[in-house]
Amino acid sequence: MIRDAEKGKIEPKKPALEDEKEVLKLYSERLVTKLEKNVLDLEREITERKRAEEALQESEENFRALAENASDGILIATGEGVHVYANKRAAEITGYSVAELLGINMKELAHPDEFKKLAERLQKRLTGEYVSRRYETAIFRKDGKKVPIEIAGAQTVWQCKPALIIIVHDITERKKAEEAMKEYSERLEEMVEERTRELRDAQEQLVRKERLAVMGQLAGGVAHELRNPLGAIKNAAYFLNMVLEKPEPKVKETLEILEEEVTTSERIISSLLDFASPKSLMRRKTNINDVLRKALSCMTVPENVDVVSQLDEALPNTRADPDQLGQVFGNIIVNAIQAMPEGGQLSVKSEVPSPKSMTIFFADTGVGIAKENLGKLFEPLFTTKAKGIGLGLALTKILVEGHGGTIEVDSKVGKGSTFTVRLPIGLTIEA
Ligand SMILES: Nc1ncnc2c1ncn2[C@@H]1O[C@H](COP(=O)(O)OP(=O)(O)O)[C@@H](O)[C@H]1O
Ligand SMILES: [Mg+2]
Repeated sequence: MIRDAEKGKIEPKKPALEDEKEVLKLYSERLVTKLEKNVLDLEREITERKRAEEALQESEENFRALAENASDGILIATGEGVHVYANKRAAEITGYSVAELLGINMKELAHPDEFKKLAERLQKRLTGEYVSRRYETAIFRKDGKKVPIEIAGAQTVWQCKPALIIIVHDITERKKAEEAMKEYSERLEEMVEERTRELRDAQEQLVRKERLAVMGQLAGGVAHELRNPLGAIKNAAYFLNMVLEKPEPKVKETLEILEEEVTTSERIISSLLDFASPKSLMRRKTNINDVLRKALSCMTVPENVDVVSQLDEALPNTRADPDQLGQVFGNIIVNAIQAMPEGGQLSVKSEVPSPKSMTIFFADTGVGIAKENLGKLFEPLFTTKAKGIGLGLALTKILVEGHGGTIEVDSKVGKGSTFTVRLPIGLTIEA
């Protein structure tokens, strides 16, 4: 009607009632349109909200799936430290069930040694102060076991209040590996030290052997040169003894001393020559017990010395030089007897402690050896005896080592000494 009016068409004037009807119709039409629009807006709003709700639900489901399947423990705690969320892995690491975790405060998990530091860190996190993202600490499992962990925290909001997400990474395996590495590196250091020591010992032994060889050559040469004049002195003494029918007691005594000293000198010369050029090692099938028995039977044992032998008949035959070993055992036995001037007991024992070696012990109840002398016993020319030469043990050591063995001594002054000879059974042969 208005449109028509705008167009300038003149309509016949309608009665007032008609007009009012028109206005009402127009008004109701507009109202309907507005209502329709409102309904549409409402519908759109509802759809959007529904979509938002769905998105929220989806994201929550995603978070749950992510958290539930995470390989690290995840805990959400309020500012007071009360757990409001815990995943399965957190339960596994702590030994509590998820339900139990939700009831307890973080304080109950923290290891007492670590708690203060941990609480400070958490506080700083909540107040937004800087703290490093990762942190190594330890917790107490429900069963009381201490578990090393690494935690990473992040601020979050829980029911409109500040809260913390804590990611707990169990580092037991890593710590174990670190420990093993540390142990290994320490062991490596030890091994290097040990090897260095062995090398140093080997070097010292080499130097000692060289020195011994030079000394031996020199001593051997001197001994050899002395043999002839000594022979001449011996002959002269013998001759004088023969020609002097009734010598004066003083002359007789002097001649006897001369002969005695010649005999001692000969003994020294033989020892020097033995030491200077020991006979070369001739290995053959040898029964060590037999060598021991022979060495003992050759010995003149004073009556006040008791010899007890305890020989293990299970000792396997071995390839060794019985002459050299006879000399070795003889030297040790003579020393033991000489160490017991007042009498005592000499125990000789053989045994097979492992399939790889045999051990022979010579234990006496003699005078013993002073501590400061223990290291010198095997040095050539070391002797504490008035008529000693000090070559017995030096030669003994050379011969034992020539067999691939070792010799050790253990002693207490006034109580006695034990010499232990170890020989390898690497070259054992069947009987
Ligand atoms: N069984 C023992 N008890 C006490 N001391 C011993 C024993 N065996 C060896 N010794 C000491 O070792 C030293 C060196 O011995 P050795 O080399 O045989 O030379 P020697 O017997 O000529 O002195 C001896 O002088 C003695 O002091
Ligand atoms: Mg001796």
